[in-house]
Amino acid sequence: MSVEGFLQQEPGFATKAIHVGQEPEQWNSYAVVPPITLASTFKQIAPNKHKGYDYGRSCNPSRNVLESCLASLDDAKYGLCFASGLGATTAVVHLLNAGDHMISVDDVYGGTYRYFSKVAARMNVETSYIDATDPSNLEAAIKPNTKLVWVESPTNPLLKVIDIKAIAEIVHKKDILLAVDNTFLTSYFQRPLTLGADIVVYSLTKYMNGHSDVIMGAVTTNSEDIHTRLRFLQNALGIVPAPFDCYMVNRSLKTLHVRMREHMKNGLEVARFLEKHPLVQKVIHPGLASHPQHELAKRQCYGHSGILSFYLKGGLDEASKFLQELKVFTLAESLGGFESLAEIPSVMTHASIPLEEREKIGVTDNLIRLSVGLESSEDILADLEHGLNAIVSIQGVRGSFGHTLGACSSGS
Ligand SMILES: Cc1ncc(COP(=O)(O)O)c(C=O)c1O
Repeated sequence: MSVEGFLQQEPGFATKAIHVGQEPEQWNSYAVVPPITLASTFKQIAPNKHKGYDYGRSCNPSRNVLESCLASLDDAKYGLCFASGLGATTAVVHLLNAGDHMISVDDVYGGTYRYFSKVAARMNVETSYIDATDPSNLEAAIKPNTKLVWVESPTNPLLKVIDIKAIAEIVHKKDILLAVDNTFLTSYFQRPLTLGADIVVYSLTKYMNGHSDVIMGAVTTNSEDIHTRLRFLQNALGIVPAPFDCYMVNRSLKTLHVRMREHMKNGLEVARFLEKHPLVQKVIHPGLASHPQHELAKRQCYGHSGILSFYLKGGLDEASKFLQELKVFTLAESLGGFESLAEIPSVMTHASIPLEEREKIGVTDNLIRLSVGLESSEDILADLEHGLNAIVSIQGVRGSFGHTLGACSSGS
C-alpha cells in the first residue's frame, strides 16, 4: 500500500526480515532462533581444513546470519557487518588508494566528515564537499583521480534529498563508485542499489537495530569484486562486531517494518504540528509539501522515518531552553531508537564541522534535530508544545518576539 504518496512497497519485505538467513536446519539443534556463537576460534579437522570457520574475526556464524538477512532486505547479493557505522565507512574508504579523490555531500554526518577530513586526508585521500541536490555540482567537482562519491540521502541534519539515480548515471560514465549512507531511511524506506548505487552503508546503531543498545555498521552490495575486497578489509582492519550484538540486530530486524511505519506516522504528525507553530521558523521533513525535494522523495522512497529538523525562532539560548524543558524527548545524540531524542546539531553531532562550513550550509544554533520515537503521539505533541511555551519566558525577558509570543502563549 502506498503511504502519503510515497512509492508503494513490494510485498515480501517482512517475510525476508523474518526468515532469510535464519533457517533452523543450519544448526544441529534446529534452533528456530539463531544461537549466539561466542567462540573466538574453531576446531579444525586437519591443518587448514575446517567447517567454514577458523577464527572469530574472519568469520562467525551469528554474524553470517545477520549479513544474509541484511543483504536480502536491500535486494543485495552480499552483506557485511562492521564494528560501527564509522567502521563500515572506514572499510569503504580503504577501497581507495593514497592519491585518490572523493566527493561527499556537504551536510554529511559530523563523524563521517571528521573521518574524511582528519583521517582519510592524512592518508592522502582528499575529499571535496558539494550540494548534491543539483547533480551538475557533482559533474563540476569530478577530477581525473575521483574514485568515490559519498551520498547521504536524506542528508544529516538538513534532510536534503539527493536524486540517487541521477548521481549514479553521472558517476558510472567514469570509473567511480557510488556509496549511499542509508542510515536515515533503512532498507524499508529506500533501496539505493536498485537506484544504481554500488555500495550501501548503514549505521545499524540507528533504526536497523532501533533499540539504542548496540553500536554496529554494515555494507551491502551486488558487486562480487567490492564484496571480496570489503570482506578482506573487514578481517584485515579488524573492525568486526561482537556475536552478541549481531544477535541483537538480527532480532531487531524482525520488527523493522512495523517500527518504521510507526516512526513515519509519529514523525509526520510532529512535522505538521511544528509547521503551524508561531515559534517555529521552518520545518524540514521530506514528507511535507513545503520540502524542496518532496516530489523526488515520493518518487525515490517508500516513506520517511521519524527524523526531522526545524529552525526555532531565536538562537542557542532558546534552543537550549526548549530542549531542557522536554520530558518525553531525551536530550541526547543519536537517532532511530524507539525513544524520542532531540539535539542541537551545531553544538552536538555536527560540532566537528568548522563554524564557517556549518553556517554556509545552514547548520545554525537554532536548528534542532528530532528523532521521533514510538511513544503515544499525543504525549509527544504535548511535550513539544510545553517546550515551546517555555521559550516564552526567556523571550519575555528580551522581548524579541513581540506579538508572535502572545499567539503562542495563548495556547495556539
Ligand atoms: C547518517 C549516519 N551515518 C553514520 C553514522 C555513524 O554510525 P556509528 O555511530 O554507528 O559509528 C551516524 C551516526 O550518528 C549517522 O547518523
